[in-house]
Amino acid sequence: MKISKFLLIILFSFTIYIQNLSADDAKMLKGLEIFNETAGCAACHILKAAGSEGNVGPNLDTVSLTVESVKEMVTYGLGVMPAYGEEGILTKEEIDIVSFYVANSAGK
Ligand code: HEC
Repeated sequence: MKISKFLLIILFSFTIYIQNLSADDAKMLKGLEIFNETAGCAACHILKAAGSEGNVGPNLDTVSLTVESVKEMVTYGLGVMPAYGEEGILTKEEIDIVSFYVANSAGK
C-alpha cells in the first residue's frame, strides 16, 4: 500500500514535469515564429538559433539577456528598435513568448 502510494506520487510529479516541458517547447516554437515572421526581429538581429542574420541591431548571441530585459526592450523600444508594446504591434502575450524565446536561445 505504501509503495503504491509512493509510485503514484512519482507518476504524478513526472506527469507535471512532462507537461511543463511541452509547454516550454510550445513557447519556444511560437517564439521562433514571432521572432522570424510576426515581429520581424530577424531583419535587424543576428540570432543563430533562429538562423537570422540582420545587422541593424546588436547580435543577440553576444549580449547578455534575461527574459525581463528582452521584454523591456521589446515593449518600449530604443532608437531604431521599435516599441512593439507601446505601439501595439505585438500583444503582451506575444511579447512574453518572444522574450522567453530570445532569452533562452541566445548564444545557443
Ligand atoms: C528595425 C530594426 C529592429 C527590429 C525589427 C528589432 N530590433 Fe531589437 N534592436 C535594434 C537596435 C538598433 C537595437 C539597439 C538599440 C540601441 O541601443 O540604441 C536593438 C536592441 C535590442 C535588444 C537589446 C540588446 C542589448 O544590447 O542588450 C534586444 C534584446 C532586442 N533588440 C530584441 C529584439 C526583438 C526580440 C525584436 C523583435 C520583437 C527586435 N529586437 C526587433 C533594432 C531592431
